[in-house]
Amino acid sequence: MFAKEVYRERRRMLRELVGEGLILFPGNEESAMNYRANTYHYRQDSSFLYFFGIDKPGFYGVCDVDAGVDTLYGDDFAIDDIIWMGEQPSVSELAAKVAVESSGPLKDLAGLMTLAMQSGRKVHLLPSYRGDQVVSLSRLFDVNGEELVKLESQKLIAAVVKLRSIKDSYEISEIEKAVEVAGIMHTTAMKMAFPGNYERELAGAIEGIALSHGGPVSFPVILSMDGQTLHNHYHGNELTEGRLVVCDAGAETAMGYASDITRTCPVGGKFSAQQKEIYNIVLKANTETIQASIPGRTYREVHLMAAKIIAGGLKELGIMKGDLDEAVAAGAHALFFPHGLGHMLGLDVHDMEGLGENNVGYNQLLKRSDQFGLAYLRLGRQLEPGFVITNEPGCYFIPALIDQWKGEMKHTDFINYDQVEKYRGFGGIRIEDDVLITDTGSRVLGTPIPKTVDEVEATMNS
Ligand code: GLY
Ligand code: MN
Ligand code: MN
Repeated sequence: MFAKEVYRERRRMLRELVGEGLILFPGNEESAMNYRANTYHYRQDSSFLYFFGIDKPGFYGVCDVDAGVDTLYGDDFAIDDIIWMGEQPSVSELAAKVAVESSGPLKDLAGLMTLAMQSGRKVHLLPSYRGDQVVSLSRLFDVNGEELVKLESQKLIAAVVKLRSIKDSYEISEIEKAVEVAGIMHTTAMKMAFPGNYERELAGAIEGIALSHGGPVSFPVILSMDGQTLHNHYHGNELTEGRLVVCDAGAETAMGYASDITRTCPVGGKFSAQQKEIYNIVLKANTETIQASIPGRTYREVHLMAAKIIAGGLKELGIMKGDLDEAVAAGAHALFFPHGLGHMLGLDVHDMEGLGENNVGYNQLLKRSDQFGLAYLRLGRQLEPGFVITNEPGCYFIPALIDQWKGEMKHTDFINYDQVEKYRGFGGIRIEDDVLITDTGSRVLGTPIPKTVDEVEATMNS
């Protein structure tokens, strides 16, 4: 938990931005895995964590904007809970830790919300992303799930996005801690990427590293020789010489902040000439667009810059052809780079995505494209100092997509399908860093993680 003043100030700014009414933040409950008492690792809602800081189930936070008072609602633990979970602080003690001046039992919350609805007071809610929460909120407001959606407040969403988008120095240092752990995870995976080992052994070892540093992984480990499948969670292959391992993994700190790093390495410790050529194209897209990530520039512009670098590199290899600007404008590069350059990062790996991707990554000035490839760009709007974003270009040879486009003779002005065939079993390459936008430019967070061909090979063979 940060110092209590941090939470008080966040809630003060939030009340100021929202202007009137009651803001309700439901905390997350435990979530059952295969029966009620066998739960997933507990994860608090990130907006609740941001404004109320308490990492436990069973709580609701309310900001009364009109009265300028915040209240924590929850029921004190009973002796049965204490027998199973140990001594627990009282609700009022927890409230005091995050500078919340008032607290009460859950039945008082129900009374407050009923009164608010009857008297026509504005109640602001964020969108729900868990079924159990839809059920409890529907009960609380005596509405059905569809009517509940009407309580979602654009004003609250905009205010939360505005505040959470700008990371303060405490948050940046938390994210850097998460990147440090990710560095150990990735160098460990590299050192294990040798023939005879199974993907699951690498995935298990790096997940264990995250756990041993105090947090879980920040999302299920993506680790595969079939890196052309962008989010591949299958870890059953035995590693074989000549293949590439894409490892996309990060850690979450005890405070809930995430890292999200990708490295690609050659099984056996030596890139082939063909792998090196594609790798260096992706690396160039990564390093040059990090340099180009400066305040005031839209991330969509930076994404298109990455697309042009990748298209340019592929043109040199005879895989693409024609005018590069025209190719990128037409979206032809998306056969090889079908996803976005990156997203916000913070308490969520895709930060605030539960509030709606477009509410986070786009605005009135910039609407999301519906072009294949560009449509997957989660963050398009102008960069601002304090944003923490990912930079994750990639180049993939996806057989099903190649077959589809080739069959449709798609973008034949820009794609040399005969040459593409030579790369059919190549797999994919992605390189991902976590980047802070500063007042004047950008900075890659954390201790550098081996990234060039030489650095990756040296780490693997060390
Ligand atoms: N780890 C998922 C992503 O890179 O967005
Ligand atoms: Mn990632
Ligand atoms: Mn990412």
